[in-house]
Amino acid sequence: MKILAVGAGRQHGNSNTIIREILRGAESVSHEIKFYDLNQMDIKGCRGCYACEKTEYGCVIQDDLKPYWKDLMKADVLILGTPNYIYNISGQMKMLIDRHYSMKDRYYKPRLPKGKRGIYIFSQGDSNTETYRSIYETYVKYLESHGIETLKFWVYGGSIPAGEDTLTMKEAYELGKNL
Ligand SMILES: Cc1cc2nc3c(=O)[nH]c(=O)nc-3n(C[C@H](O)[C@H](O)[C@H](O)COP(=O)(O)O)c2cc1C
Repeated sequence: MKILAVGAGRQHGNSNTIIREILRGAESVSHEIKFYDLNQMDIKGCRGCYACEKTEYGCVIQDDLKPYWKDLMKADVLILGTPNYIYNISGQMKMLIDRHYSMKDRYYKPRLPKGKRGIYIFSQGDSNTETYRSIYETYVKYLESHGIETLKFWVYGGSIPAGEDTLTMKEAYELGKNL
């Protein structure tokens, strides 16, 4: 199985720690993994050029996301992890999600093959995991409109580093192992 993961948080922050543990579990059963760290990449936002309507699939902007669209076509599982910045997902993750517009055709029909599943990790300072739920759900619903079935909607909040939270680490590892 091919697992495609994208992190937008601090290198050793909570969202990336959870992603890494899911990937460790996935690797333990020989799934093929690929990880993109948005903070190490030069990426641009969608500029609404609609050039994607004339392509087979994928965004035409030539930046570090160039190989991502092909990876997404092939992936069985998509994992996205983002911090909460000012009541919302991070700008980096928003830029990535906006550019998924290019994965629909001019009639707004998904171009992605069916059968993909998504895991979404939202990391926030607030320990109340309900505070921003409806905002996060907007993005998950958008990804569902591409035919990606949601496997896990995960909000991690509070001041305990995810790596020190053994239950979280176990859940992440098992999630990856059982994909
Ligand atoms: C610019 C900025 C804005 C933030 N805004 C919020 C916020 O509105 N609500 C919240 O609960 N946490 C907020 N936080 C805290 C982060 O969401 C929190 O530190 C989270 O763990 C970061 O994710 P990461 O550990 O995956 O990097 C903010 C942090 C920064 C740097």
